[in-house]
Amino acid sequence: MTGPTTEAELENVAEALAQADSGASLARSQRRSREIEAQIERDPSQFRVLTGDRPTGQLHVGHYFGSIINRVRLQNQGVDTLVLIADYQVITDRDGVGPIAERVIAMVADYLAAGIDPERSLIFTHSAVPALNQLLLPFLSLVTDAELRRNPTVKAELDATGGRPMSGLLLTYPVHQAADILFCKANVVPVGKDQLPHLEQTRVVARRFDERYGRATPDQPVFPQADALLSEGAITILGLDGTKMSKSRGNTIELGMDAETTAKLIKKAVTDSDRHITYDPVNRPGVSNLLNLVALSTGQDPVAIAAEIGDGGAGTLKRLATEALNERLRAHRARRLELMAEPGYLHEVLAKGNARANAIADQTLLEVRQAMHMVY
Ligand code: TRP
Repeated sequence: MTGPTTEAELENVAEALAQADSGASLARSQRRSREIEAQIERDPSQFRVLTGDRPTGQLHVGHYFGSIINRVRLQNQGVDTLVLIADYQVITDRDGVGPIAERVIAMVADYLAAGIDPERSLIFTHSAVPALNQLLLPFLSLVTDAELRRNPTVKAELDATGGRPMSGLLLTYPVHQAADILFCKANVVPVGKDQLPHLEQTRVVARRFDERYGRATPDQPVFPQADALLSEGAITILGLDGTKMSKSRGNTIELGMDAETTAKLIKKAVTDSDRHITYDPVNRPGVSNLLNLVALSTGQDPVAIAAEIGDGGAGTLKRLATEALNERLRAHRARRLELMAEPGYLHEVLAKGNARANAIADQTLLEVRQAMHMVY
C-alpha cells in the first residue's frame, strides 16, 4: 500500500485524524459526564459548578432548554453553583458593548425567574471581579500563540464575524474563560460541545500552573482539573429559520417575549411542503425543531407528537408548538415581569453575588501569588 503523497492528500489525512480525535474526545466527555452525574446523585457537596452566558442580547429558548434548566436542576440537587454574566467576553468579536447594562439586569431577571435562587447560587459579572481578571496574566504565560490559534471554537467564531481581523482578546479569551472556571476552583462546567476545547485549555492551564509555578500548600495543586458536563441526549433547539439559534441571526424566541409575539414568530417558522408530519431531524429540520419545542415544553416524545398530528400539516404543528411553549414559559414570563419592575432588587442580587465572587477571587489570587513567590 502506498501512503498519501500530494499535499492535498496529506491535508485530507490530517483532517480525518483530527475528526476522529474530536469524535473520540466527545465520546470520552460524554462518558465522563455520565460518571459525574452519578457522583452528584451520591454526594453533591464534592462539586462546584460554574457556567456563564455572554450578555450580547436577551436570553432565548435555546439557552433555556439547553442550559438554564440544567443549572437550576444542579442547584436544586445541592451543588454549589456560580453563574457568570461574561461581560468582558462580549467585546471579543464586535466593536462596542451595546446596551449592556440593561442586558445584564434582564439576564439576572431571567435567571431568577427560571429558578436560580440567589440565596443558594451566586450570580456575578467579570468586570466587577478584578482578581479574576488578574489571573489572566500568569495564565497567558502558560500557553503558546500556536496553541491558541488552533482552537476550533475561536476559529469558528472568527469566521462568523465575516472577515473581521482577529482581536487579541478573541485569540486569548479561552484563557480568560479558564480564569472564570479556575478563580472559584469549579470542577464541573455544564456546557455544549462547542465549549469542549475551552475546557481542555482550562485543564492544560491548571496542570501547567502546578508544574511551572508550584503550590501555595505542598499537599495540593492550586487549581483542580475541571470537567465538562454535557447534558445527556440534549436536543439542540434550532432557530426559526432552521439554522443555529443565535441572537445575531434574529431567529430566536426570547424568554421575555409575550405570548402573542411568540405566536407570530412561530407562524413564520420555516417548515416544508409535506403535510404529513414526521420526526426526521436530518431531512426535515424545521418540522422536527418545532416537534422538539413541543417535546421539551411538555415532556412528551417528539415521535408520538408527530404521529398525533399526522396529516394535520404545518399549521397544526405550529399551533401546538405555540400553545406548548407559551404554556411552558407562562410562569417564567410572569415572574420575569414582576422582577423587571424591581430593578433595585436585581441590582442588589448582582451586587451581593459580585461581593461574594470577589472574596473567592481574592483568596485564589493570594494562593497564586504565594505559589509564585510574589507576596512581598
Ligand atoms: N463562552 C461561553 C458561551 O459562549 C460563555 C462563558 C463565558 C462560559 N465564561 C464561561 C461558559 C465559563 C462556561 C464557563 O456560551
